[in-house]
Amino acid sequence: MNDRELLELAAAMRSRAYAPYSRFAVGAALLTEDGRVFTGCNVENAAYGSSICAERCALLKAVSEGVRGGFAALAIVGSGADYCWPCGACRQMLYEFAPDLRLLVANGRGESVSCSLRELLPHGFGAQAME
Ligand code: THU
Repeated sequence: MNDRELLELAAAMRSRAYAPYSRFAVGAALLTEDGRVFTGCNVENAAYGSSICAERCALLKAVSEGVRGGFAALAIVGSGADYCWPCGACRQMLYEFAPDLRLLVANGRGESVSCSLRELLPHGFGAQAME
C-alpha cells in the first residue's frame, strides 16, 4: 500500500460520512506496518458535541480490534479547498498510540502534504508522562 493508494482509500471513505449538520465529509485511512488498513469517516450527531471525526473513527476501529501500535501512516481527506488538518482532540488521541505517526493530509482537490504528528503536537502529553 503506497501513499497514493492510502489517500485514495481515505478519499473514498468520504462517501460513508454521516455529516448532515456540517455537510463537510472527511475520510481517513490508517495503515499498519504489517499492511492492514483501518478506515474511518466522520459521524455527526444532533447533539453536535457527540460527533466523532474520521481520524478517531479509524483509530478506534483499530484499537477495538486489538491493534494498539505499529501504525505507519494516516491519510486524511477533507472536502474543502484547505488541507484537512486533524483537530486537537484527534491529535491527542493519535499521540497516545502513535506519537511518531506520519500523516498524509489532503484537501478536496486531490492535493496532499506529508508531516509528522510530532510536528502538529509538539511537547505532547503522553503515556510516558504518567509514569
Ligand atoms: N472533521 C473530521 O472528521 N476531521 C478533521 O480533521 C476535521 C473535522 C469533521 C468533524 C465534523 O463532522 C466536520 O468535519 C466539520 O467539522
